[in-house]
This record gives sequence, C-alpha cells and structure tokens, in this order.
Amino acid sequence: MDIIAVEGGRRLSGNVRISGSKNAALPILVSSLLVDGTCVFNNVPDLMDIRSIKLLLEDLGARVETQGSSVSIDATGVNKFEASYDLVRKMRASILVLGPILARQKKARVSLPGGCAIGARPINLHLKGIAALGADITLEHGYVEASAEKLTGADIYFDIVSVGATESLMMTAALAEGVTLLRNAAREPEITALADVLNSMGAKIEGAGTPEIKITGVSRLNPVTVSIIPDRIEAGTFMVAAAMTAGDVTLTDCEPEHLGAVIHKLKLSGSRVDVLDKSIRVVGTTDIQAIDIRTVPYPGFPTDMQAQFMAMLTVAKGTSVIRETIFENRFIHVSELKRMGADITLEGGNVATVKGVPHLSGAPVMASDLRASASLILAGLVAEGETVVNRVYHLDRGYESIEKKFEGLGGVVLRKKG
Ligand code: EPZ
Repeated sequence: MDIIAVEGGRRLSGNVRISGSKNAALPILVSSLLVDGTCVFNNVPDLMDIRSIKLLLEDLGARVETQGSSVSIDATGVNKFEASYDLVRKMRASILVLGPILARQKKARVSLPGGCAIGARPINLHLKGIAALGADITLEHGYVEASAEKLTGADIYFDIVSVGATESLMMTAALAEGVTLLRNAAREPEITALADVLNSMGAKIEGAGTPEIKITGVSRLNPVTVSIIPDRIEAGTFMVAAAMTAGDVTLTDCEPEHLGAVIHKLKLSGSRVDVLDKSIRVVGTTDIQAIDIRTVPYPGFPTDMQAQFMAMLTVAKGTSVIRETIFENRFIHVSELKRMGADITLEGGNVATVKGVPHLSGAPVMASDLRASASLILAGLVAEGETVVNRVYHLDRGYESIEKKFEGLGGVVLRKKG
C-alpha cells in the first residue's frame, strides 16, 4: 500500500487547477442508464470512485470508453438488473443505480451498501421514495430487490435532508408517469448539476437547488454531451492548505459560488480571499484565529470540509468548537491529529473542542476515510519534521493526483510505494 510523506514548513504558492467534481460525476454517470444511446461526459476526474462506477456500469452491460477526462457511456446494451456485492461494497454511491435500473428493466437487485468509517449510512430514504413511486421492495440476503410494472409520480417528504436520496428520486421519477414532488430535498450544487443534465436529456425537473423539487415524468430521455462542474471540496481543501501555510495560492477552473460558507469561515479565521470569475485567490496568515464550525446541509458549512478545517484550527490562536451534525462518526481524524500534538477534546461524539497549540510535530499517521486523510496531509504541511500518511488509498478515492498538485505549489508531498 502506498504512503504519502509530507515535509512541514513550506509556504504554498502558485496556481492549482481544480478537477471535476467526484460527487457530481457519480450520479451523472449513473444517469446514462436512463438513456438509449451514447452520452459523453467531459471534465470527469480520474479517481478510484469513478473507476468503480464505470466498472459497475460495464458489468450491467453498458459500453464505457474513457479518453483523458472524457467518458462516453452507451447503455443501449444494458440487459442485467443486478449490481453485485463485490462491486457495490467498493463504493457506497453504487446504490444510485437502483432506481435507474428499475425504471429501465422494471426490476432491480442491488447489494445493500455497507456502512463506512464515518457512519452507518442507511438507505431507508432512497427505498421509501422508490416504494412511493409504486415499486415493491424486499430486503434479503444483503440485497435490495425492487420491481414495478409501472412507476407513478408521488408526493415524497424526506425526514432528513439527503443528497443521495434526492439524486435517486430525481433520476427514478424522471421516467415515472405523472408528477413527483420531493419535499425537504437536498440543495447541494451536485443536485442542481444532476437536474441540469437530466433536463438536457429531456426531463422536466423544476426547483433543483431549493427544498422542493417538482419532476414531471416523460416517456424517454435522449443522449447528451455535458461537462462536470468543478469539485468544491477539492477546492476547499486547497484553500485551507493555502490558509494554514500562510501561502498565496490561486485556484483556477473552480466555482466560487459553491464555496460561500467556506470562504466566509476562512476570512473569519484571518485569511484574505479574493473571488474572481472562475478562480479564487487565498492569502493565508501565520496568525490564524480560532472560529466555531457547525456542519449543516448546503448552503451551510459542508461536512466534507470539517476535517480539513480542524487541521487548520489545531494551530489557531484560541479555542474553536466544531459540531458535526450530519454523520455520527466523523471525528476519526481527531486521534491521529492528537498524535501530532493537537489539543482536541470530544464531547458526546459530535462536538470537538480544539485548543490551538504553537505547532504540530510530524508523525506516522493512519488515514481512515477520504476527508480525514486530506486533513492529515494538511496537518503535515505545517508540522515540524516529516509526517507519513498510511493507507492513502482512501485519498485516491476522491483526490486526483493530490501529491502532484501540492508539489506544484511548492509543497514537499511525496508518494512512496509502501
Ligand atoms: C453525499 O453522501 C456525499 N457523497 C458525501 O460526500 C457527503 O458527505 C454527503 O452527501 C453529505 O453532504 C456523494 O455525493 C457520493 P446523505 P450521501 O444521504 O448522499 C442520513 C465525500 O467525502 N441518511 O446526504 O450518502 C445519512 O446517514 C462523501 O465525498 C439516512 O438516514 O449523504 C447522513 O447522516 C462523504 N437515510 C445524512 O442522512 C438515507 O436513506 C446525510 O446523508 C440516506 C441518508
């Protein structure tokens, strides 16, 4: 297993290009199942999770071709209705194929995704919504089995704001007969991006980006050529890296509009942030101020940026309080940061009190999930000495060539064969 060695003490400077969004690309690639013909997706990031979803689509019978960051998918030949455990266990977002397979084949059998390090990750909201559209659903032997001769629009209320459930239901309802209303829907940019792609295929979706989405079913959807939006979490990660190394970094090909809460919190903690059309310049400071953070659904502060901010706040002036309200176990990075000298106490599982210390010290640390791994690299950038991050496959799921991008900014971040 590869490791990444980080040498602390370098200020980052220069430009870094932000890749396409993992969390937009995953549902958008899945939406090709709703179409007979070839869809072309541009600006697709080269990530482990993207390779996993392409393998799954191929296993279902789709023809998938990749040329650089362009991926073409022709689902005409899709004749299978089962997504196997072996493929689904590699990546939880695979559950997104359930609705589109059902809409296409009138039945679907998809392995239940397991939980992961950050939480149990249930899919009850996905299943409740798909059942409301008229599907019979049974759970057995670790699989979800769904069948429906016809899908009919319904009024669906989500008890919890769920990105995945909102995406599942937008895709499935697009081909249902009649009108579907999704209430208390997620508002993330990835939801709006998926709705834009579905509408360009011929769907009739209104209200994406608001808590209420109206989907008027159509009889068929057509192939499209579209580009994936920039990855706001990769962007946020590099913004924090610039901030905490007192660097001067410009992010290009990003979407500042998707980063309002992150920009606000970075400014509060003492960084200068200049927003241009499709780029953001962050000038950091050695005088980082403590701030409080509460993760909430978009447009609030994103849970996927919590670990990265915690890394920065370990060396801030003063005490910060971080409250994680989305996932039940998203503080796994805390114990590793404490091994580097951070002063963090946890209360009740979802509140972390971070008391700033003068410096961190480099240490061998263990990655546990995607964003926790990123936070350990960020901590290594400011720690004294070398930090070695193990199990970097977690990172490769969601960051494209992260060590090359840091090296391009003057960081000493080396991948070594472990
Ligand atoms: C998406 O996961 C993202 N993944 C996550 O990013 C992100 O953290 C999350 O949204 C929240 O923004 C992708 O888009 C591939 P949810 P998702 O459904 O859709 C509970 C990353 O690092 N819930 O919005 O799985 C759930 O347990 C990843 O890139 C149910 O209870 O998240 C959680 O507590 C990590 N029942 C809350 O809702 C359900 O049926 C929000 O989850 C579904 C979700």
